[in-house]
Amino acid sequence: MNKNLNKQMYYNVQTFGCQMNFHDSEKLSAMLQSLGYVETEKKAESDIIIINTCCVRENAELKVYGNLGELKRMKQKNPNLILAICGCMMQQKHVVEKIKKSYPFVDIVFGTHNLHRFPELLNNSYQMEGLLVEVWDQENDIPENLPVERKYSAKAFVNIMYGCNNFCSYCIVPYTRGRERSREPDKIYDEVQKLAQNGTLEITLLGQNVNSYGKTLQKPIDFSDLLKVINDIPGIERIRFMTSHPADFSEKLMDTIATLDKVSPHIHLPVQAGSNAILSKMNRKYSREDYLKKINMLKSKTPNIAISTDIIVGFPGETEKDFDDTLELVRQVEYDSAFTFLYSIRTGTPAATMENQIPDNIKMERFNRLVKLINEIGYKKNMHLVGKVVPVLVEGVSKNNPNRLTGRTDTHKLVNFEGPPSCVGSIVPVRINEAKTFSLLGTSEL
Ligand code: SAH
Ligand code: SF4
Ligand code: F3S
Repeated sequence: MNKNLNKQMYYNVQTFGCQMNFHDSEKLSAMLQSLGYVETEKKAESDIIIINTCCVRENAELKVYGNLGELKRMKQKNPNLILAICGCMMQQKHVVEKIKKSYPFVDIVFGTHNLHRFPELLNNSYQMEGLLVEVWDQENDIPENLPVERKYSAKAFVNIMYGCNNFCSYCIVPYTRGRERSREPDKIYDEVQKLAQNGTLEITLLGQNVNSYGKTLQKPIDFSDLLKVINDIPGIERIRFMTSHPADFSEKLMDTIATLDKVSPHIHLPVQAGSNAILSKMNRKYSREDYLKKINMLKSKTPNIAISTDIIVGFPGETEKDFDDTLELVRQVEYDSAFTFLYSIRTGTPAATMENQIPDNIKMERFNRLVKLINEIGYKKNMHLVGKVVPVLVEGVSKNNPNRLTGRTDTHKLVNFEGPPSCVGSIVPVRINEAKTFSLLGTSEL
């Protein structure tokens, strides 16, 4: 197939999954833009469509297969369209086999470890017919100096580490993202400094387990030390990070959060379950008591801290008593918000073959009870902010109401408010007038 050199070429990227994937898509965008392609929202006018996939739960995979059906019809209409699929699903051999067998109209398949090879794969694909597959089993050195096309310049994601060594028994990520490895601190520093020079106010440091940052580096440095270095970069106003693993969450890091002025008073600390029996089967390496002790210490050091979490409902063997332990823990911690998931079997992980898989109807019933409790607590926590003035990083005009602006507090709460459109991209004081379950309403104090 040949690239048409006389016409402007368009691309479209669809991203599933976590911030890690979102940020990978930003890198793919930048590669295509440096080749002269222009991004489009419209799939129908695209010359290249990339699907960046996730396989953390079954429904994420089903969405991708659903999309492929639609893309087959588009490809029939426009045989010059290039379809590329990448991301975590592609790191699984059975998925690649399925694509070869059932979706042969796809042009390029690549994985998470060879993202940087995309321009070359694209070029090769133009020279040939049929499906080109290149997936690396192992991570190599971290490719540096890849261009990134940032979606929103006041806020930016920065990778500080890749992969995961924790092997929680339900989780596919260590198999799709490889072993844990940290980026060199000076590379991170340079990237953040450049972002700051270009007007970025907020950075989010990304890793599957940021608290173990530095362990693979020759020069010893830990995550708290990295935060200190980044805190000194002029222009950066807010530093956020995710995800923290409770087992590696140290008192030193709590002190760092409490003392560094730019580090947001918000922590995402996934608990997954409140019962020791389930935590142990999950291979989480902490007990309910360890977790609660750390939460209490954190709250005493940073009283205004917002805490969010991830919880899995219906892990194999979860009894009613185990589930009650989760509800009780949620009541004690009083999370500001939580992502809740129905346990999903991931082939190849230890939990997939554990006995006593929980039937869907029981999972669903527990899930609904948990969500109700979390929403009640979230609303109560939001109510505490009514009447207060909070700093909001303004992201743009609200989707639901063009007369309102939208942004986030330093505790990462969503705020819709009335204010001058000129404040988009800056941090402004907003008075909170009303609380909702998932957001706040306010008026700017400018
Ligand atoms: N590294 C992060 C997040 C990884 S994936 C961490 O450890 O917290 C994001 C969330 O997906 C996890 O926290 C977990 O709650 C959920 N998850 C992972 N595997 C799952 C599975 N098989 N079924 C249901 N939820 C799952
Ligand atoms: Fe998955 Fe556990 Fe690693 Fe998070 S820490 S990515 S849940 S294995
Ligand atoms: Fe993220 Fe999904 Fe991969 S959660 S790391 S994109 S499996």
